[in-house]
Amino acid sequence: MAEAAADQISAAAARPLELAIVLPTLNERGNIAPMVARLEAALQGIAWEAIFVDDNSRDGTADAGRDIGRTDPRIRVIQRIGRRGLASAAIEGMCATSAPIVAVMDADHQHDPALLPGMLDAIRSGQYDLAYASRFAEGASMEQWNRPDREKASSMANALARKVTGVDLSDPMSGYFMLRAETLRANAGKLSGIGFKILLDILATVETPMRVKEFPLNFAARAEGESKLDRTVVFEFLVGLYDKWLGRIIPTRFALFGTIGALGVVVHMAVLSAWLAAFGGTLRDQLITDFEIGQTLAAMVAMTFNFFLNNWLTYADKRLTGTGRLLQGWAKFALTCSVGLLANVGAAALLVRFGFHEYPAALIGIAIGSVWNFALSSRFVWGR
Ligand code: GDD
Ligand code: MN
Repeated sequence: MAEAAADQISAAAARPLELAIVLPTLNERGNIAPMVARLEAALQGIAWEAIFVDDNSRDGTADAGRDIGRTDPRIRVIQRIGRRGLASAAIEGMCATSAPIVAVMDADHQHDPALLPGMLDAIRSGQYDLAYASRFAEGASMEQWNRPDREKASSMANALARKVTGVDLSDPMSGYFMLRAETLRANAGKLSGIGFKILLDILATVETPMRVKEFPLNFAARAEGESKLDRTVVFEFLVGLYDKWLGRIIPTRFALFGTIGALGVVVHMAVLSAWLAAFGGTLRDQLITDFEIGQTLAAMVAMTFNFFLNNWLTYADKRLTGTGRLLQGWAKFALTCSVGLLANVGAAALLVRFGFHEYPAALIGIAIGSVWNFALSSRFVWGR
């Protein structure tokens, strides 16, 4: 039995590789071996490899893949350290194969591998540039999924995506698709790699419209573990759309950083006014006035708020975790922001001396300070 399997593996390895299946994973340990067995069953007679792109899962997902890979070289693992994100994992996996055709699918058994041979035929026929599985095509179903909330959200997101990108598919949000590797590689540098919407990103990026074949998908329930999309799905989606829409003019990260900075101003004012309401007037004639203490406190709170929000959203893919790294990051961020503040005040003061009106001078100062904070913290706090 084992010998027969080994023969099959070496026979397969002797033939030129035809297809790579890229499976991004985050805490999917229990799903790996059964997924390999299902791929094996579905892909009889095809020379394939599977690449699990794992973002350093804590449950040992990468080890589960390597355990199989030791005896079956068709099973490969890319283990990424300090990185996060389904879309970027998919891109990296697709760039890492020698196979001429690549597929991306989820590792949690929601996508049926039985569709792969049909998708492969479609691409190999030369009639199509993209084959994908749609949850909204004629004959598809989501009954097993049993998540009417997500189903509804998906169909709304699809409609919005169709508007913004002009891509007209029944399910551009699908995470299950196949295309020629060279098409992907030719466009990989232009993909945003943000969030979950890799297919939409590809469709909106390629210059010649793709000829698409749709396969109805029976979207199954997840086998083991839990979905990673629930908490950030809407946010990531909106960020992805923004990136496609305005990302070339104002970079997405800077837009997020700036928006969070503006929220920080609101936090600052709220803290300051609460402070003044409680202690205003009590220290009027002292060496340090109540305003000065309040202003300092408000700035500290706002800066801390900005640090955590940026760490959570703007730099979700490079998020600092653990008390030590967080504290260190916070201190570096505080340092960056104090220099930013000097740049801000310095520039504004200079402009006022040259005869600028105070308010536009203040705004220019804020803009200069923000660019400084962004440029420095992206290297110094979240860079590596
Ligand atoms: N490497 C890596 N990094 N893999 C990830 C990450 C990540 O940050 N987040 C999720 N994954 C992996 C999961 O382990 C799983 O194999 C696959 O990506 C899909 O993630 P799920 O968490 O199961 O997502 P879902 O089922 O809620 O979403 C699916 O449906 C969406 C449409 O509603 C996916 O197919 C999405 O691509 C799709 O847009
Ligand atoms: Mn899933």
